[in-house]
Amino acid sequence: MQEMEETLFIIKPDAISHAESIIKRVEDEGFEIIEKKRLNLDRKRASEFYAIHKEKPFYSELVNFMSSGPVIVLRLTREDAVSYLRKVVGTTNPSDAAPGTLRKEFGSGVCTNAVHASDSKANADKEIAFFFK
Ligand code: RTP
Ligand code: MG
Repeated sequence: MQEMEETLFIIKPDAISHAESIIKRVEDEGFEIIEKKRLNLDRKRASEFYAIHKEKPFYSELVNFMSSGPVIVLRLTREDAVSYLRKVVGTTNPSDAAPGTLRKEFGSGVCTNAVHASDSKANADKEIAFFFK
């Protein structure tokens, strides 16, 4: 049996209208929602959340996008939550994502890719603290 973990999941501004289907999908995959909130990230908070990417060419596009409308932030738990959720989400670019992944179904571009999922246990802890503590 694998260890219970927590991870952070975000429904991005481009996918807010699909929030119900996306949340149903993660619950069907065995995740439990510990906490959930809808909020607007202003440019400052979006910049802080993605600070790890500040040297990347797509940083300003990403900050603009993430502050362009409401997001839904979810604290999820499941066995092997971090890597399992990344599989459900799919690759960064929706056009490369496997059939059945959330980004394949709901993403429309490399930036507007519908959802975020923490990429490691350490980052999951940091990202949960960023929104929920
Ligand atoms: P995320 O952090 O949102 O779960 O996505 P990820 O790990 O798959 O991708 P990451 O490399 O961490 O990039 C963060 C987000 O930046 C946007 N992006 N745009 N225009 C581009 O080339 C580009 N590359 C990345 C995406 O919204 C990506 O999810
Ligand atoms: Mg990432």
